Amino acid sequence: MKTPIIIANWKLNGHKLLVEKFSKKIKNIEKNFFKENTIILSPPVIYIQKMKEKIKNKKIFFAAQNVDFNNKGAFTGEISSYMINEIGAKYVILGHSERRKNHNEDNLCIAKKFKSVKKNNLIPILCIGETEQEKKDGLTKNILKNQINQIFLKCGLNSFHKTCIAYEPVWAIGTGKNASPILINKIMKFIKKYIIYKSKNKNTKIYLQYGGSVSTKNIKSIIKSKYVNGVLVGSGSLDYKNFFKIIKISYKIKKNLLK
Ligand code: 13P
Repeated sequence: MKTPIIIANWKLNGHKLLVEKFSKKIKNIEKNFFKENTIILSPPVIYIQKMKEKIKNKKIFFAAQNVDFNNKGAFTGEISSYMINEIGAKYVILGHSERRKNHNEDNLCIAKKFKSVKKNNLIPILCIGETEQEKKDGLTKNILKNQINQIFLKCGLNSFHKTCIAYEPVWAIGTGKNASPILINKIMKFIKKYIIYKSKNKNTKIYLQYGGSVSTKNIKSIIKSKYVNGVLVGSGSLDYKNFFKIIKISYKIKKNLLK
C-alpha cells in the first residue's frame, strides 16, 4: 500500500484555543505516524501560519479550503494562490460540494481556480461527487465526468498529473452514512481509468481520496480499499484524539500490523 494521505478539513470551525491545543498535541504524536502518512491540515486559512509556526514539522502539510482564481487586484475579500503559497501551504481544496452549493461555484469557476493553483505551484485537492438524487437517478458517473472534463478543457491534458482527487458523495457528507468500501473502490477505479483515458497518458499519477463521514469506526475498511490513497476527514478531524486515531489506524494498516 502507498503512503496514506490523511487530510483534516476543519471547514468553518476552530478558534485560537483549538489551534493551540491541536498544534501542541500533534507535535507529540509518534514520529512514525507522520513519516508513514502524509498528513495535511486544512484549518480556516487565517490559522494556517500560526499552526505551522507552532507545529514546526516539515512533514505536516497545510491546505487552504478555497482560493480566488485571480492572482491580485480589486477583488475585496478574496485570497489568491500566490498568497496561499507565500504563507507556506502546499495544497488547496477545490470544488467542495459546500462551495458548489452555498457559493454557486460551477465547474468552470472551479477549473479556473484549479489553473491558478497549479500556476502557483500548489497542489489541488479536487472534490467531486454526486447528490443523493443524482445517485438515485443513476447519474453518478455522468456527474463525475462533467466535473472532471471542465478541468481538462481549461487546464489541458496533463492537468491531473500529481494532483489529489477526493470522491466525496454529497449524501455521505456530515450524515454519518459513509459510502461502502465496495462502492468507494468501484468509483475510484472508474475515476482513475477515466482520467488516464482522457489524459492519453497511462503514467498520469493521481492520488485518490475518499471523504464523507470518515470516522475511527470506518477508517480501517476504507483505507484498506485497493484504489484509496487516503481520506478527507471533516467533523472527525476537529477532535485531535479522533483524528490521531484515524492516523494511527491508517499507519497500522499500512504496516500490516492490523488486519
Ligand atoms: P464529514 O467528515 O463531516 O462528513 O465531512 C466530509 C467532508 O466534507 C470533508 O471535506
